[in-house]
Amino acid sequence: MKINIGKEFFNNVYIPYLKTKTTMNVFMGGAGSGKSKFLAQKLTIDLLKEKRKLLCVRGTLNTMKDSVHAEFLAVLEQFGIRNQCKITKMPLEIIFPNGSQIIYRGADDPEKLKSIQGVTDIWIEEATEVSKEIYDQLKLRLRTPNVKIRFFISYNPVSKENWVYSEFHVNPPTDCTVLKTTYKDNRFLPQEYIDNLMEMKERNPLYFKIYADGEFGSLGDRIYENWRVEEFDANELIKVNLNLQHRIGLDFGFKADPTGIIEVIADMQEKKLWIVDEVYERGLLNSEIAERIKNKRWHKSLITADSAEQKSIAELRTHHGISRIIPAKKGKGSIMAGIQFIQQFEVIVHPRCVNTKIELENYSYKKDKSTGRTINVPQDNFNHILDALRYCLEEWQRINRVKGVSKSLFGL
Ligand SMILES: Nc1ncnc2c1ncn2[C@@H]1O[C@H](COP(=O)(O)OP(=O)(O)OP(=O)(O)O)[C@@H](O)[C@H]1O
Ligand SMILES: [Mg+2]
Repeated sequence: MKINIGKEFFNNVYIPYLKTKTTMNVFMGGAGSGKSKFLAQKLTIDLLKEKRKLLCVRGTLNTMKDSVHAEFLAVLEQFGIRNQCKITKMPLEIIFPNGSQIIYRGADDPEKLKSIQGVTDIWIEEATEVSKEIYDQLKLRLRTPNVKIRFFISYNPVSKENWVYSEFHVNPPTDCTVLKTTYKDNRFLPQEYIDNLMEMKERNPLYFKIYADGEFGSLGDRIYENWRVEEFDANELIKVNLNLQHRIGLDFGFKADPTGIIEVIADMQEKKLWIVDEVYERGLLNSEIAERIKNKRWHKSLITADSAEQKSIAELRTHHGISRIIPAKKGKGSIMAGIQFIQQFEVIVHPRCVNTKIELENYSYKKDKSTGRTINVPQDNFNHILDALRYCLEEWQRINRVKGVSKSLFGL
């Protein structure tokens, strides 16, 4: 098929990579630098040139439709060939006029990954969401006789503790190209996106380093650094700022773990959270939880509670008059996604919330036992009130789940 694709479709920095010859092709760097768009364009061109089969892999399959697949559809549209391709939903697939094929798999289903045959190209999108084990398993395909398989790998440099750092930046494989790009390389990026990115400079320097400069961040041990204890008057805040939202989060506990309830005021535009009040008690029955909620006059607000206790939620709702309680959605990857969402805020803790302060001071990442290095997994400790905090912010996070890391605050 003959189509004419001019240079104006591309960001200049990527043009030389249309002809890349290496086996391993890494596109990493800041947010909005055009990595995903370019890979969708380049791979589409390659699939049109000759019959190939592209396997796209991301952390989970359900994120694929709105990200990688949507990107390919946009490129088919841009190249004016969408109606010549066969696009199926179940399974999600694109078949080109020459028989080339794009298929999608989540890294959360290794068995399904193993069974795929005849792949010539693999794109691992947001590779930091994919485990090293899955990458190694995919790499075994390089040994397929008589086929030269190519890898395309894209990611933001979230942390030096992630496997991509040692794999591609410390000891890169032979036959590997690494291109780093940032928002500066993308002339198609709206100014508003750039403005949002720049705002990160003050609020969260680590995020700025990763998502604006495209440089590897490194995790400290403590999960939350973006908070301070300060007096404020919640009623005054609400009076002067009509954009503020009021929410309650609840994490059930009983004997070993306390029940944690948190009252939050959020300014989603200015990215500020005020922790107004808390409950932190062991041994509470549901009737007593309801009593605490009513005493604090929280029963009129939306309360998002740990969905693991559906029975307690139903009981609070039907027998104890807590009518606006809903279960958190949670789901795979929701802990890290929730943490990363909260990390982007300026958090102000009222001095009366002593337990929230203790948890914020102590909630930490795990360490790898063999290396002693911090890994990107939170410890299951000092997380009761902080889980409640994640739950009550969940709805905003869901508004934009383009990727595990919520980039809604950058305007994506
Ligand atoms: N060649 C292009 N033509 C038109 N729009 C483009 C082009 N390249 C990038 N863009 C637009 O710029 C925005 C950011 O690009 P893209 O999503 O590819 O960046 P990214 O590097 O993958 O970002 P992230 O690290 O957040 O995944 C998108 O809205 C995309 O459509
Ligand atoms: Mg991308």
